[in-house]
Amino acid sequence: MEWRPEYSVGIKTIDRQHQEILGYLRELSAALDSGDGWSVTHGLLIQIKHYIKTHFAVEEALLEICDYPDLPAHKVSHAAIETHMEKLERRSVKEDISQELVHFLKEWFLNHVLKSDKEYGEHLAQTFPGVAFASPAA
Ligand SMILES: [Fe+2]
Ligand SMILES: [Fe+2]
Repeated sequence: MEWRPEYSVGIKTIDRQHQEILGYLRELSAALDSGDGWSVTHGLLIQIKHYIKTHFAVEEALLEICDYPDLPAHKVSHAAIETHMEKLERRSVKEDISQELVHFLKEWFLNHVLKSDKEYGEHLAQTFPGVAFASPAA
């Protein structure tokens, strides 16, 4: 899955993090395609999990500062994703869940990043017009 300009939520730092996550996703897909084993995919899973945790913390801090009205619901959605990632990690000790992880991350990108994240992006752009963080990613 390649990054496209229309994926931008209008906040450079967040866009960079979303790009980074897509990079991880490509790495994971490539590892699967080349037949790399569990040690590679499990290592990536751990890295992705930590990266996403940090990303959620950054997003939530930003939305807190900006007093985003839908923050509680957004947090619930983040928590559900983290719980699912934890479950996948636990299962990955005993079984190969790499394909499932790729599928889950793609779904997350399409259903959370391109919907809920873009919603707060639009809200912030309207609430704080002209503010630097609202400039689209290059
Ligand atoms: Fe996000
Ligand atoms: Fe989010």
